[in-house]
Amino acid sequence: MLQQLDTADSVRREVAPHIAQKHKSELGQFMTPSSVARFMAGMFPPSTLRTCRLLDAGAGVGALSCAFLDRWVAGGFGFKVIEATAYEVDVKLRGYLKQHLAAYSKVKAEVIAGDYIEMATAEGQQAKGYTHAILNPPYKKINSNSAHRLALRSVGIETVNLYSAFVALAVAQAAPGGQIVAIIPRSFCNGPYYRPFRDFILERAAIRQMHLFESRSKTFKDDDVLQENIIIRLERGGEQGPVTITTSTDDSFNDLVVNEHPFDRIVFPDDPEGFIHVPTTIEKSAIELSAAVRYSLTDLGIKVSTGPVVDFRLKEQLRDMPEEGTVPLIYPGHLSITGTVWPMRGLKKPNAILRNDTTEKWLYPNGFYCVVRRFSSKEEKRRVMASVVDPAAFGDHTVLGFENHMNLFHDNKRGLPELLARGLAVFLNTTAVDESFRRFNGHTQVNATDLKLMKYPSREVLSELGKWSKKHSAITQEMLDEQLRKLIA
Ligand SMILES: C[S@@+](CC[C@H](N)C(=O)[O-])C[C@H]1O[C@@H](n2cnc3c(N)ncnc32)[C@H](O)[C@@H]1O
Repeated sequence: MLQQLDTADSVRREVAPHIAQKHKSELGQFMTPSSVARFMAGMFPPSTLRTCRLLDAGAGVGALSCAFLDRWVAGGFGFKVIEATAYEVDVKLRGYLKQHLAAYSKVKAEVIAGDYIEMATAEGQQAKGYTHAILNPPYKKINSNSAHRLALRSVGIETVNLYSAFVALAVAQAAPGGQIVAIIPRSFCNGPYYRPFRDFILERAAIRQMHLFESRSKTFKDDDVLQENIIIRLERGGEQGPVTITTSTDDSFNDLVVNEHPFDRIVFPDDPEGFIHVPTTIEKSAIELSAAVRYSLTDLGIKVSTGPVVDFRLKEQLRDMPEEGTVPLIYPGHLSITGTVWPMRGLKKPNAILRNDTTEKWLYPNGFYCVVRRFSSKEEKRRVMASVVDPAAFGDHTVLGFENHMNLFHDNKRGLPELLARGLAVFLNTTAVDESFRRFNGHTQVNATDLKLMKYPSREVLSELGKWSKKHSAITQEMLDEQLRKLIA
């Protein structure tokens, strides 16, 4: 049977390519393909409610509402009555939306021409009592002090993106027991800026399910979305229990894997940041299992910071090659697993920075450091890529500049003992660390906060790893992994 969702989907395929890119990114318009919409509608548990009050905020042409209502029409829900409310700001999409919802003669549908954030934050709008919400909200940064930001603040929501704002508002507007299913970027799981959002939803709702697409590029084949997305199901006022994690390679859901995890593997009880992990295997990672990997950086007396030299702000201070009055400026390109090469011609980055009153406060004493790149490319196997800064590469220079594209492990702004720096790099380059990192971070970006919150082996074990690495000139991934296994077993 041809369902209304199929109509919505052909409209999506017809309309989406003609929307100007600028308009698309301004309104965060990425339409959900029908297979994903159907999957999302299928995530709602059976219900004994007589009346369903459905919310679809940022409804586009209505794919998600249609998927939900198609399930109802096909007998997938027992509701007698459905009242559907859809918000959409775009007049053109709204035209299609109205048509698509009107096709359900038994549904009382209301299409609201307006800004969901403005309307939902207006006085008295908080407890709307939606029993179900199905969302693919717009993704766009909310600037501080913008009208959106202030409206959200007035109802106690402090957040930095439209998508988290929509989800927070849907949670706020849900009835007790209300179910919210949303497809959203994964950045809320660990970004420090999303902490108030995480707190907001976890105080009001239980996480029941999360679905992760393992291939980042395939979820929205027709739209060019590179963000890693997850689908989350929340239950308003629910008591938090185990969480179902499902994964599939892409939106065909052919290879769906379902696992259940206790909540303390999703949000670690001792994690002050409340990161949300999405474990993709039932086994604990080697890192989680090992009692030997239990030290915080504070326990180890090590700090981690972002490289302080922001090159575009200090342009006048930078020089392509070293000259009188300059000191080395280090970019990720100077560092590799095999060692530090400086200066490097043809790097397309400056090799040196002037040492003067302006720059002095950004400089570190020459010494051994462990450095982790902040950005890796999607093609790279591991996200966490660590290297050792070797002071011998910089001759007589007493200070160094570290550029902003790297995170730097240091001892209170001084270098580390050589073996400790080398051992940290070995540890961070292991597959086990990478695996455990990916469970809470869906980005190609590695932030200093992420590294701060990880657990490490003791200084002794790290130094042992450092000693071992010094003895080998060529180290393979297998050798690193084997060595860590031996030391923490
Ligand atoms: C990511 S698209 C998803 C559309 C649809 N839910 C789907 O799944 O295909 C988000 C939609 O939200 C709309 N939108 C953006 N800002 C909005 C706002 N402040 N209030 C209501 N809708 C908004 C956009 O025009 C766009 O159609």
